[in-house]
Amino acid sequence: MIATRLVRSGLQGSIGGRLCARGFATTTGVSASVEKPADEKAFKIYRWNPDRPTEEPRMQEYKLDLSKTGPMVLDALIKIKNEVDPTLTFRRSCREGICGSCAMNIDGQNTLACITHIPKSEPGKDMVIYPLPHMFVVKDLVPDMTYFYKQYASIKPWLQRKDTLDANKEILQSPEERKKLDGLYECILCACCSTSCPSYWWNQDTYLGPSVLLQAYRWMADSRDQQLPERLSQMENAFSVYRCHTIMNCSRTCPKHLNPGLAIAQIKLLLAKN
Ligand code: SF4
Ligand code: SF4
Ligand code: FES
Repeated sequence: MIATRLVRSGLQGSIGGRLCARGFATTTGVSASVEKPADEKAFKIYRWNPDRPTEEPRMQEYKLDLSKTGPMVLDALIKIKNEVDPTLTFRRSCREGICGSCAMNIDGQNTLACITHIPKSEPGKDMVIYPLPHMFVVKDLVPDMTYFYKQYASIKPWLQRKDTLDANKEILQSPEERKKLDGLYECILCACCSTSCPSYWWNQDTYLGPSVLLQAYRWMADSRDQQLPERLSQMENAFSVYRCHTIMNCSRTCPKHLNPGLAIAQIKLLLAKN
């Protein structure tokens, strides 16, 4: 079994699940350059090693010369890992804002490191980076997504038909029907929204959270799917949907500019009509 640690201490509970560094020791990593460059910036990064489970998590500081670093936060993390400290652990894959794997809490906002610019306008200001809040941590900036994916699987996120499909025949949609999927199909399941939602922080065992609910609505809204009554009856309880209190942190933080809060409102509307 993988040792994990829940990132909860120091929560401030503001937009994007802001965490503060209170209670963590800060250590300084080796600087990427010996002399202080004019364009230097400090990155304070959450560290926790499952191989040393008795050690408290800590914030580690790394200083980089921005004139020799790519423009994005992920560029900085990769530079630190390649040139300063190979033990720093984080997920990334596409580097294009498509895979969702580099989701983390950057300066208090849940977002994607690969599409977040290192702000040049504030050269002296440190960047503070945590894993997604209120998730168990596998190591450093890597959250444990096991339960999140189980919740995703629970909504059966695939096309379901009651009739027999002819494998050689397309299921057609009108342009209007297809348009209903805009703002839904673009979701990359990064979990930035769910981990910024106070209801999800406290009721993760029963509340599906904005990301999974947006995905659930994506299939409810699909004219080719024939399982709407069953999909709705799965939500007919006090927790799956109704733990959403329309706080809207989810829609504010989504790095793809989607609106999971609206998708949840649409599910509530369908439930009311059901
Ligand atoms: S609108 Fe609902 S899902 Fe979004 S943050 Fe608020 S409570 Fe969570
Ligand atoms: S709705 Fe946005 S924030 Fe939420 S999982 Fe999808 S892409 Fe990420
Ligand atoms: S690396 Fe894929 S979204 Fe950032």
